[in-house]
Amino acid sequence: MSVAPRTHFLLFLISLSSRMGLSRYIEDIEAADGLYSLLSLDQKRDSEDFTFRRPLRCLDMLATDGSYTFVASRPQLACAGFIIAEPSEVISLELSDVNIDCSAGDFIKMFDGWVLKGEKFPSKQDHELPLHQRYTDYCSSPATGATSRSSQNVAMIFFHLHSADSGFTLAIKKLHNPFPCNIMSQNPEGSFTMVLPHQRKNCSFSIIYPVEIRLTDLSLGHAKSNELSPQRQLWSGCSGSGDYVELLGGNGVDTSMMFPVADLCFSLSGLAQMKIGCDNSVVRLVSSGNYINRVSFQYRLLEQSELPKTQENALDNFCSVE
Ligand SMILES: *[C@@H]1O[C@H](CO)[C@@H](O)[C@H](O)[C@H]1NC(C)=O
Repeated sequence: MSVAPRTHFLLFLISLSSRMGLSRYIEDIEAADGLYSLLSLDQKRDSEDFTFRRPLRCLDMLATDGSYTFVASRPQLACAGFIIAEPSEVISLELSDVNIDCSAGDFIKMFDGWVLKGEKFPSKQDHELPLHQRYTDYCSSPATGATSRSSQNVAMIFFHLHSADSGFTLAIKKLHNPFPCNIMSQNPEGSFTMVLPHQRKNCSFSIIYPVEIRLTDLSLGHAKSNELSPQRQLWSGCSGSGDYVELLGGNGVDTSMMFPVADLCFSLSGLAQMKIGCDNSVVRLVSSGNYINRVSFQYRLLEQSELPKTQENALDNFCSVE
């Protein structure tokens, strides 16, 4: 991701997290100055081993393989790093040079996903692991708690350090993921094809921008080779048919708490197009495991003039614009 989209992304994330009540996390970025140095990412590379290195901030956004060192200059009691990779990557995290006092209440925790305002992505329903297994707590087990691997292209680190000069180094490495399921998009525009071959699971592609989504291809319910063609019930609504695609809109990141904007449960080509004027727009594929399901879509950021004008409805019940 080049610097410009990343700037936009981080600013958006900050506005989202502050609107979501995490404004305390942004206390460290006081000035545009600080933000700028954060984003320009001091393109320094270690000439010896070509590892990208830079300091880690109390609120940070990390998208590059490298080694990030945090040293507390004062007590830092609510810090978080959002880590994001490409859609077809997962993230490996490793702590080293850890100098914290767990007995004094310091902690470093890694999370398999993102948490914003207590909401999690991927949602509990869509993640293969139970929630407690998605946390890696350094203090509860310094031996095994120093490494973590995400199940999707986003991960997070939380830390809480009481004394100045405590700190640690976080190494980030992105690994190829041949079967991406849940995905957070880095960009407000792009295209993606999600394929779920005979897998009983649900996958969400989340875009934390208000966007227009255009489904360019949808193929559901291809029979397994040893079965006859399945009988699709085209007109009985999607929930009865097992496999479908839903478009969701909402202002948090937990897809199970978002509003359905549209359900699609029959194959189509180049038909559906929808504007979702929410902070978060999601394409979610629900799969029974009986079929090979595939959905392709394109998305673009909504213009200011396309956004819903009224904020008076506190529930933001319908971010849908059309
Ligand atoms: C997928 O989502 C549907 C509807 O939200 C749910 O009924 C089903 O149990 C989910 N499947 C899995 C494997 O979680």
